[in-house]
Amino acid sequence: LFTAVEMAPRDPILGLNEQFNADQNPRKVNLGVGVYYDDAGKLPLLECVQIAEKQMMEAPKARGYLPIDGIVAYDSAVKSLVFGADSEPVKSNRVATVQALGGTGGLKIGADFLKKINPNAKVLISDPSWENHRALFTQAGFTVESYPYYNAATRGIDFDGMLGALNAAAEGTIVVLHACCHNPTGYDITAAQWDQVIAAVKARKLVPFLDMAYQGFGYGIAEDGAVIQKFVAAGLSFFVSTSFSKSFSLYGERVGALSVLCQDAEETSRVLSQLKIMIRTNYSNPPTHGGQVCAMVLNTPELRALWEKELAGMRTRIKQMRVTLVEKLKAAGVKQDMSFITQQIGMFSYSGLTKDQMVRLRNEFGVYGTDTGRMCVAALNSQNIDYVCESIAKVL
Ligand code: LMR
Repeated sequence: LFTAVEMAPRDPILGLNEQFNADQNPRKVNLGVGVYYDDAGKLPLLECVQIAEKQMMEAPKARGYLPIDGIVAYDSAVKSLVFGADSEPVKSNRVATVQALGGTGGLKIGADFLKKINPNAKVLISDPSWENHRALFTQAGFTVESYPYYNAATRGIDFDGMLGALNAAAEGTIVVLHACCHNPTGYDITAAQWDQVIAAVKARKLVPFLDMAYQGFGYGIAEDGAVIQKFVAAGLSFFVSTSFSKSFSLYGERVGALSVLCQDAEETSRVLSQLKIMIRTNYSNPPTHGGQVCAMVLNTPELRALWEKELAGMRTRIKQMRVTLVEKLKAAGVKQDMSFITQQIGMFSYSGLTKDQMVRLRNEFGVYGTDTGRMCVAALNSQNIDYVCESIAKVL
């Protein structure tokens, strides 16, 4: 039965974790996967999460099946966070939100639903994009192509190229856009450029699918989510996948969501009914724990305030690491101007290192980043940064 089954390539991001775990180098540093570690190199367990979990343990509950679309209080907290509690779409019941298995799960539910209603559409992702975007939409049955995004020569965005590709796209093309903290480059388009993207999306009748996995890691929760308001104001129907993996440091709980903005409440209930079929036929319904924790934190004012404070702490530390990285690379003897690292935003830095240099970093120094040159700045700390800078200086 399996004689013709080929060996699949290692996952370009999570596959690195396997290699990292097996590495015997005592100085190894994992800058591969997008995970935030604190300055002691520890994965944080947020205080707001600990308080919520303590309260949950004090009143333990049996765990029946959740509704297919998840915990009601969770879904409504997601809607408020993404669209605004008092926003018109939320008040008019125009948002279909389902709890999903992380941001990836939200993307997959959306992709499967789109394949059902728009089977011949093409999908456009940014060049480059999160490695899993292409794989996920291909696996859902779509032909995936890309729109220009990063210009290596100018270390910035090829906005004309991006806009040109959107304006040339066929009606109904699904366009995957990074709402904030572009993964992997760390370069976001400006508010004025978003307006132009939205105009193109509207004129060409494209289907926007916003991936917002890093809300709060750029400039703040509201600031990073501002693009959603722009899409709402444009009167568009669109998809948003969101994730609490990073912002709650709950990676393993797989807490995310898919929200679909529809034109009216009746349309929303039809869309929701279809999303539920995607979920039911995939994994039936979501797990309870992570969703309950997030719902409790988001819906309890004191916990919510604590969460915002802790998230701001993560965001600030990453920014500090960017500044220190630039300084220490210079001190380690790197001649080229690396100050672009402080212009990038979110968890990642697209370092400009070649694949060969990234492989050398990994094999000779135990410093892990992706082959594309992406490094997770959120995993740098005061203990490992000197070693990382010396290693980068050597491969450069
Ligand atoms: C990443 O880009 O490293 C994260 O989003 C984790 C993942 O699932 O790839």
